[in-house]
Amino acid sequence: MVIGNGAREHALVWKISQSPKVDKIFTAPGNAGTAQISENLTISPTDLEGLAKAAKTNRINLVIVGPEVPLSLGIADYFKRLGIPIFGPSKRAAQLETSKTFAKELMEKYKLPCAKGRTFSSYPEARKYVQSQQFPIVIKADGLAGGKGSIMAESWQEATRALSDIMEAKIFGSAGDSVIIEEYLKGLEVSLIAFTDGKTIVPMMPSCDYKRARDKDTGPNTGGMGGYSPPSFFPSQLVEKSVSTILMPTIKALSNQGITYKGILYAGLIIANGKPKILEFNARFGDPETQITLPLLRTDLIDILLAIIQDDLDHIDVEWYNSASVGVVMTSGGYPQKYKSGLPIEGLDKVDKDILVFHAGTKSGNSGKTYTNGGRVLTVAGTGDNLTEARAKVYRNISRISFQDHHYRRDIALREIK
Ligand code: AMP
Ligand code: GLY
Repeated sequence: MVIGNGAREHALVWKISQSPKVDKIFTAPGNAGTAQISENLTISPTDLEGLAKAAKTNRINLVIVGPEVPLSLGIADYFKRLGIPIFGPSKRAAQLETSKTFAKELMEKYKLPCAKGRTFSSYPEARKYVQSQQFPIVIKADGLAGGKGSIMAESWQEATRALSDIMEAKIFGSAGDSVIIEEYLKGLEVSLIAFTDGKTIVPMMPSCDYKRARDKDTGPNTGGMGGYSPPSFFPSQLVEKSVSTILMPTIKALSNQGITYKGILYAGLIIANGKPKILEFNARFGDPETQITLPLLRTDLIDILLAIIQDDLDHIDVEWYNSASVGVVMTSGGYPQKYKSGLPIEGLDKVDKDILVFHAGTKSGNSGKTYTNGGRVLTVAGTGDNLTEARAKVYRNISRISFQDHHYRRDIALREIK
């Protein structure tokens, strides 16, 4: 049973549906894409009791958690107590993502490379502190804010407004009870996402995610507009170095605090002067990174996930195809602000056989037609011998799909094309 309803979850269902070990897949709640290859259950990812009941009734052998919210509610701890096998970190371990102050304190205590920063729970003190700082500066709400909790402030006025919005107006609710104010780091970003059973770390192929809504990194931040793998500026030596100097020390630091980290450990890194520094941690698969990297994974994902649950990751050979992958997100016009839903999607049957169309905000109509049902609607993904080939293939196919006011970035992976 896969929990979630995004393109990340569709990609997870697509990958595990290829495993000879899997007879049947349920997705809760899923979308029109997961409905084609699994059975959707109308249960919210936050309804832990409902999910547990469905897992028991359907005799589920493995639960895979997509989004962070159920992890923050302690789904892994709860299901473990009930004897339901679940892939995902405990509530305490997930604090790496759910509390930026927790993550920052850990990074500082164990001298992990990251931006210098300070934590505040008093608005007047935070305000006073920014007066003495240089700009740009980054202001981050402590808790979960749907990827919108980090604000780049270019001036004292912008910083003060961000602090007041977060700490006084509480635009992110209690996630803004405290904030981190940290130095702005310049460089290229990469997502280093790894499997871990708390002892062994196996990195996935690194990938890049484009967060801004419009070309040339303009427009507001979004949940992710597309990405590619592997990035040429983050070769395997840097992956290995980051595993040994960042990911491994992180799970050891947690272990020193009595926390075993099992699941996906996602480090958002920035490479400045050839050195990786941590921007953030997530406790789950990335979106859109999963849609881009799973098509490159040769190994059966179920084998990897079961090995993690059984503390046996060091006995698994995780293999990757020697290809490149690109994914482009199609959104509703207006996203991430106001947009229309319920628009018919045309051309889904016109894409080439080797193109993957992962659904996010979609739903099926009675006539068998598919309709938009959210801001991010589809991720169109494809692989090739190199990024030029993969990119050309994806853009050729995405132009065959349409719905009213649809939008996608035209520059995904463009910086890699010589
Ligand atoms: P976060 O909320 O920590 O995931 O950050 C979201 C995005 O804000 C990152 O992907 C970066 O693009 C940007 N960001 C966060 N922290 C910094 C920083 N210290 N310097 C520069 N950019 C940052
Ligand atoms: N790609 C950003 C995230 O999954 O948080």
